[in-house]
Amino acid sequence: MSLERRDPHDHRGWMKDRDDLTPIETTYLTVLMYLDKRLRIVDYLELLETLYYKVNMQMPKSHTEQYNLDNKFWYWYPLYALGSFSVIAYLVAAVSGALLGFYYSPAATGDPSTAYNSIVFIMTELRFGFFLRSLHRWAAQVMVAAVFLHMLRVYFTGAYKEPREVNWILGIILISLVLLFGYSGYILPWDQLAFWAGQIGVELFLSVPLAGEWIAQLLFGGFSLSQSTLQRMYILHVFFFPFITTALIAIHIGIVWMQGIAEPH
Ligand code: HEM
Repeated sequence: MSLERRDPHDHRGWMKDRDDLTPIETTYLTVLMYLDKRLRIVDYLELLETLYYKVNMQMPKSHTEQYNLDNKFWYWYPLYALGSFSVIAYLVAAVSGALLGFYYSPAATGDPSTAYNSIVFIMTELRFGFFLRSLHRWAAQVMVAAVFLHMLRVYFTGAYKEPREVNWILGIILISLVLLFGYSGYILPWDQLAFWAGQIGVELFLSVPLAGEWIAQLLFGGFSLSQSTLQRMYILHVFFFPFITTALIAIHIGIVWMQGIAEPH
């Protein structure tokens, strides 16, 4: 046998026994050859394969896995699903939020404001608009509750201990982000609730020693509510928080994937 490394992009021989192939296999190989000639995708597929095997070398195996014990009953404890439940609520909020974005406009001008009017339009005229808005609001609130309960589960099963401290700290950042995400959304309807919640936010930051005025200016665009406030909350809500929260959730779950779930003690 030759020890020479075969060129993975040399397609001769891929279809050598064409008669033995099923139509699905022929289609698959034809598409693969077409893409590989143009994008060298075989290299990337090999990279993915290597990654797949690396990922399977999970770091600390749980006691049950290490000793191949049959009792994997605890895998099914319902409270272990709260993290995944948070992800589902997040996805529902993301999709319904993206659809709401087609109809909402972040303008504080006019009386009642354009922003408020766009919410009234969604609630009263848009077909299934009331459903979409309710879905978004409920998904957001369910997510906050689920994340909080997930945190309690992690605490009471001792899953925050070594080697999972990094994920605990990441979790603290995540729950803060989720709350701020909710707060920025609460301001968007620009109704009485939103206005006074905004006012409380400004006062809250103004009470921070030294940096208070600077933070209030940065986040609210001034010390009283205006178009700048609504615009900033809007950009935080639809651009800044989605990117950063999604990235951190991906890292959080990536770490769970590498470390494996902590076993209850
Ligand atoms: C956006 C919010 C969050 C999402 C989507 C999320 C998602 C998840 C998921 C899917 C798991 C797998 C195990 C499970 O579902 O119980 C997990 C595990 C974990 N989470 Fe979260 N989480 C979030 C927030 C938090 C918070 C607030 C904390 C704590 C401060 C935290 C700390 C941890 C730890 C330490 C683990 C490993 C637990 C174990 O190995 O048993 N997470 N997370």
